Amino acid sequence: MSTLTIKRPDDWHLHLRDGAMMDGVLPHSAAHFARAIIMPNLVPPVVTGDQAAAYRDRILKALPDGMTFDPLMTLYLTENTNPADVAAAHASGLVKAVKLYPAGATTNSASGVQDFDAVRPVLEKMAEIGLPLCVHGEVTAPEIDIFDREAAFIDLVLDPIRQSTPGLRVVMEHITTSNAVAYAEDQDDTLGATITVQHLMLDRNDMLVGGIRPHYYCLPILKRGSHRLELLRAATSGAPRFFLGTDSAPHATHTKENACGCAGCFTAPIALSCLAQTFDEAHALDNLEAFVSQNGPAFYGLPENTDTITLTKGDPITIPDHIDTDAGPVTVFDPGRPVFWSVQ
Ligand code: NCD
Ligand code: ZN
Repeated sequence: MSTLTIKRPDDWHLHLRDGAMMDGVLPHSAAHFARAIIMPNLVPPVVTGDQAAAYRDRILKALPDGMTFDPLMTLYLTENTNPADVAAAHASGLVKAVKLYPAGATTNSASGVQDFDAVRPVLEKMAEIGLPLCVHGEVTAPEIDIFDREAAFIDLVLDPIRQSTPGLRVVMEHITTSNAVAYAEDQDDTLGATITVQHLMLDRNDMLVGGIRPHYYCLPILKRGSHRLELLRAATSGAPRFFLGTDSAPHATHTKENACGCAGCFTAPIALSCLAQTFDEAHALDNLEAFVSQNGPAFYGLPENTDTITLTKGDPITIPDHIDTDAGPVTVFDPGRPVFWSVQ
């Protein structure tokens, strides 16, 4: 048996939802993570500073007694977003990033951006005040194959935005391809990139060979194995550019086990166990703390957490099939192989 004590981690990309679903999933993130960047893709989306403040209050109210958790709020960028509202929400300390969803790219992204020129004044204001843009990096043109959408986005949208908005801090979220790793490694430190648990552990064969596994279906979609190996290399390298964003995205089980299933993996309860397992297999446990606890705060200009968590390697853990919420059961991500690390 061995143990590993690291500074308490943060999650730099998390979906908490709202109402009964939030009540059910929030304790699973708060149990392990000190802070999380909270995604704004509610229905309707969190667009204004006032909406973000109200959402933050609802999160804190849903937090069980005795737990601590700091939700770092984001605003959902639309073509009508007001630069002054964004600047005020940032100046008050409430909002830590703005989220760019290309319209139609993923769950609840209908209000996202179609005309990138329309958001230019907001992006320029963000560059001026140092507020990061979190980017769902997939093009949505129907003729572009779903497996090529991230690579196309880098060339067609991301790089042009960065070239035309010098100084804008950008997080490439949930990267899934060697193209994204190569791009990120080639940039200056205004660029960060988050990586999920499922993209480090699985490839598209895991999702599609021998039967379709809806609980492995997320966006951006799992890619071929060679991409996974590059993500693993980047995450385990310790390089400051790469940090954890679980993209834990709960959907009630019946909405995923469905003829038209929702995208998203609910990883929050077992994310750290799975990451310790993955880093252990890669002989890179020394760099786990950088990936989950240090590189993220450094990018966001926030202090590292001062308390710690301890991970223990022992018998394989039992991954619960699901958690119960008042919005229905939510299936817990299971990587399909033994995980020997538990969080104490
Ligand atoms: C996310 C969700 O369900 O909100 N789904 C997912 O597959 N990751 C949206 C997103 O982050 O793309
Ligand atoms: Zn997400």
